[in-house]
Amino acid sequence: MAGRIPQSFIDDLLERLDIVEVVDRRVKLKKTGKNYSARCPFHEEKTPSFSVSPDKQFYYCFGCGAGGNALGFVMDYENLGFPEAVESLAASLGLQVPREQGSQTPEAARREQQQKSLYGLLEQAADYYRQQLRQHPQKQRAVDYLKGRGLTGEIARAFDLGFAPPGWDNLLKALGQDEETSARLLQGGMLVENEQGRVYDRFRDRIIFPIRDQRGRVIAFGGRVLGDDKPKYLNSPETPIFHKGRELYGFYQALQANRKLERILVVEGYMDVIALAQHGISYAVATLGTATSSDHLQRIYRRCPEVIFCFDGDEAGRKAAFRALESALPALEDGRQARFLFLPEGEDPDSLVRSLGRESFEELLGTARPLEDFLFDAVGEGIDTHSLDGRARLARQALPYVRQLPEGVLRELMMQELARRTGLELASLMRLESAAPKPAEKAAPAPLTEDHPAPPAQQSPAEIPPRPRQRTAGQQYRVGGDGLAQGAIALILHKPAIAAGVDPDMLSVLDGEDSQLLRELIELVQRRPESNTGMLLGHWYGTGEGELLNRLAGQERLIPTEGIDSQFHDILDVLLRRIPHQSQLARQVDKLKGTNYADVSEIEKQRLRELLQEKRQRDAQRNRRET
Ligand code: UTP
Ligand code: MN
Repeated sequence: MAGRIPQSFIDDLLERLDIVEVVDRRVKLKKTGKNYSARCPFHEEKTPSFSVSPDKQFYYCFGCGAGGNALGFVMDYENLGFPEAVESLAASLGLQVPREQGSQTPEAARREQQQKSLYGLLEQAADYYRQQLRQHPQKQRAVDYLKGRGLTGEIARAFDLGFAPPGWDNLLKALGQDEETSARLLQGGMLVENEQGRVYDRFRDRIIFPIRDQRGRVIAFGGRVLGDDKPKYLNSPETPIFHKGRELYGFYQALQANRKLERILVVEGYMDVIALAQHGISYAVATLGTATSSDHLQRIYRRCPEVIFCFDGDEAGRKAAFRALESALPALEDGRQARFLFLPEGEDPDSLVRSLGRESFEELLGTARPLEDFLFDAVGEGIDTHSLDGRARLARQALPYVRQLPEGVLRELMMQELARRTGLELASLMRLESAAPKPAEKAAPAPLTEDHPAPPAQQSPAEIPPRPRQRTAGQQYRVGGDGLAQGAIALILHKPAIAAGVDPDMLSVLDGEDSQLLRELIELVQRRPESNTGMLLGHWYGTGEGELLNRLAGQERLIPTEGIDSQFHDILDVLLRRIPHQSQLARQVDKLKGTNYADVSEIEKQRLRELLQEKRQRDAQRNRRET
């Protein structure tokens, strides 16, 4: 197996590449002032908001928030994995990609190896199931079932449908002869282990739906019974390569079928996706028995500007729709849209597209309700907006949701719409808005109707899911919290040289992920003073930090043109002053630990005495208060 690509090679590669050339070869760029621009290849737009900076070696789209360096661009544009993108770019410069031997930690190497082999193994499993649909003695039952549901052989092939024959150990026998392989099959969720420690096939006598990730790798399976047995569907469990809350069935096929996606339909079932595709609607995806998450939506919106959710028209469907709405709000930057289609009683997209056909179904899609309508109706349910009191209540209940939207045109429109619906002046809404509690603070609960979920502002802090980091204007400079550290990071990304004179050790006392990232960034710039934005991003590519960095790097327009250095140092000062004395003491003690006290300088000793003195005073004060 090929080893890891050395970081130094990636740094070199990014240094040699010119992002303008890399992008221009794929998307024609026009020079606009210092930068280059084009219509964004990652979302549909009429006027160009996609910009490439030769200085920073960084691209960014103000429309959809996509951003990154040359490598990231190639990965996203060509749907390549990291190593493949490195290979491709290296080849364009005539470079050989070196591989490291044994430089990874054994743990990391093992994990990487394991994941790689899991992908391969699941691909083999998919092949096996596909073969069984063609040759197993009982294949006819499966074929008949699929035909009975109106599927053609062509569409079954497009989605790689298969058949897991009846029996406890078909797959095990076919792939898992040795112990090592069966252990990996177990890890990949293909086998189940009973209490006696015996393993057997998870999927038996079922139609098999391989689940692929965005890049086309098989990562899991769904299996449906041929009759009415229960459970109707079985899915792979969470595994090292499969996370339900992130993956969407059919996304890969939708990306393959459409060079450019204008909208994506989110439906509930495997069969819905497939039936729609068979009728020429090749842009449907299904969540995998979970609610639509903000991860799902971020993924979708990176590739297309509009999402239409299809839900049952019943109570459960409306609840699910409202949860989807909550996940969608933070992702709705300008240019993105979410709409909701509620299906007639007893129908699902599969049954509807069969009875209506493509055209009528797409007409129906045209009637999907915009998010703003659905939101206001849902929160306004049961509120009498004829009374002044009712209108104020509507405003109070809707505002926490509107506040989840990133700043932009949509948020403005929603505020205006709320003003219209409540008859309140925009100005007084704004006052209400700034008075409304922030989701992270404990809020005074407003009365709510029973039948829809409480808005985020009214959940207790423990229940609030971590809010996705948003690219919201101004947010990074708010005082306190991560905003400060992120502000400093944004400045470094804008002008790496400002980090040159900082002592990174000084920052080692800062807690929190963002401060940690800030410190690592400073260290990196000091190791590689020639770093540009693109190179810094390259270092974290594909990680959560990388996503944050991309977003912060895109905040260029919020950065002042002057006084960057002093602003940076001001932020660092405030960050350091925030550290409680306790940790300064701990740090001082740490520093002196293991050194002979006689060797400690007088200044250090004095500092330690002062800190101890302060601590004693604080402790004494606390004791007085408590007794
Ligand atoms: P549905 O029961 O609505 O599925 O469940 P469907 O696609 O309409 O099923 P058929 O084949 O037409 O009868 C929707 C989704 O919920 C998950 C599956 O992902 C399914 O596609 N599900 C459903 C399960 O995980 N387990 C189940 O037992 C049922
Ligand atoms: Mn169905």
